[in-house]
Amino acid sequence: MRISILTLFPGMFDGFINESIIKRAREKDKVSIDIINIRDFSKLNNNQVDDTPYGGGAGMVMMCEPVVDAINSVKTEDSKVILMTPAGIPFKQGIAHDLSKEKHLIIICGHYEGIDERILNYVDMEISIGDYVLTGGELASMVVSDAVIRLLDGVIRQESYENESFSDNLLDYPVYTKPPVFDGYKVPEVLMNGNHKLINEWRKEAQIKKTQERRPDLLD
Ligand code: 6GU
Repeated sequence: MRISILTLFPGMFDGFINESIIKRAREKDKVSIDIINIRDFSKLNNNQVDDTPYGGGAGMVMMCEPVVDAINSVKTEDSKVILMTPAGIPFKQGIAHDLSKEKHLIIICGHYEGIDERILNYVDMEISIGDYVLTGGELASMVVSDAVIRLLDGVIRQESYENESFSDNLLDYPVYTKPPVFDGYKVPEVLMNGNHKLINEWRKEAQIKKTQERRPDLLD
């Protein structure tokens, strides 16, 4: 998969693309990520990319032209264009699965008060990562990219996500590692006796209990 991220703040992505599992996925050619600076597509003085809103009001609005030129610099017939915006559809694990089947994602990070609404004519999908407001779409684009990349074949072991939170609308079961007793807190006995039928039953029950307690909305 290829992911092209269009942003005014490319430096924000240094850690994301150069650490941990994302770094390894890039090195193994499971994903290539290009960070594109929208400012490079400005044709105005001082590389201006935003201006005041028609009709008045607070803040600045990102202009269509540099964003559309940036899209067109990477777009092919295989591209899916995503705009990160709090007005988008709520991001869920199912959307991550759908997006992981795509060949090329172009992800636009909005900033300031927003982007000129006419940009929507060039966008296939608008995504929000939750009901709160961020200063820009950069962190949100990393959230979406991370959730998608880890689902690509060969990035993590498949068992790691077959039983994970949300895969069957249940939260994950609790996990433990050495030592068997920490500061008086014990690992549940059932996990220590090697009976995998019992262990699987315990885990399923724990998933259901945890989901009922914390996220009953998932069970509806
Ligand atoms: Cl995608 N962008 C911004 N600026 N804020 C958000 C968001 C996106 N998703 C939730 N809050």
